[in-house]
Amino acid sequence: MAAAPVPPLSWWDRHVVPRLIGLACTQPPVMRRRARLIPRARGEVLEFGVGGGANLGLYDPAQVTAVTGIDPSDPLLARARAAPHAAVPLRIEQGVAEQLPFADGSFDTVVSTFTLCSVTDPQRALAEARRVLKPGGTFLFLEHGRAPDAGPCRWQHRLEPMWKRIAGGCHLTRPVAAANAAAGFRLGDVERGYMEKSPRFLGWIELGSATAD
Ligand SMILES: C[S@@+](CC[C@H](N)C(=O)[O-])C[C@H]1O[C@@H](n2cnc3c(N)ncnc32)[C@H](O)[C@@H]1O
Repeated sequence: MAAAPVPPLSWWDRHVVPRLIGLACTQPPVMRRRARLIPRARGEVLEFGVGGGANLGLYDPAQVTAVTGIDPSDPLLARARAAPHAAVPLRIEQGVAEQLPFADGSFDTVVSTFTLCSVTDPQRALAEARRVLKPGGTFLFLEHGRAPDAGPCRWQHRLEPMWKRIAGGCHLTRPVAAANAAAGFRLGDVERGYMEKSPRFLGWIELGSATAD
């Protein structure tokens, strides 16, 4: 299956955004959540928006056959390929979540961490996640998104236009678990709350699993 064409990156997205992501996405409260989620992956795993590879050292080699990571950003792919300490076989490829170059039912687990905020079309990305999962396969997610409280939510709407420009297309107001359910996944456990040491407009986190029936 053909990979989708990847749009060229601006200077900012090529040189600054990878550093911002490297810093923001590896803070201890974030890494603690990754460490609760990623070892739950099983079998053939697809991680879309693999970014700089912050999850790659957390896969359990006793449970995971291989991890395929895709991302449109070549500077981030270079970081992922250089990521140390992955104990599982890795395939790191350029691509977008909205058009996955894999056959239906190819994976046991699809992982998305802090990616559905940044893709162009989250509903299409979720539909693709369902398509490439085997029946009964698991979607594992850890995302920030729309806060349930009026105050932070107002700030998210105010800040989003500027935030998207500086943070690589990251949206602040997207629903997380509700979007997974709307895409036809059966929700499993979902942990929700504000992340410690994070501003509330950015810190509403939903972490959990969903099943593709
Ligand atoms: C905030 S970063 C998170 C990176 C990584 N998932 C993590 O947890 O550290 C958002 C990622 O989504 C990627 N991305 C943006 N648009 C995408 C798309 N259409 N399909 C897949 N990944 C995309 C970016 O290149 C970036 O790596």
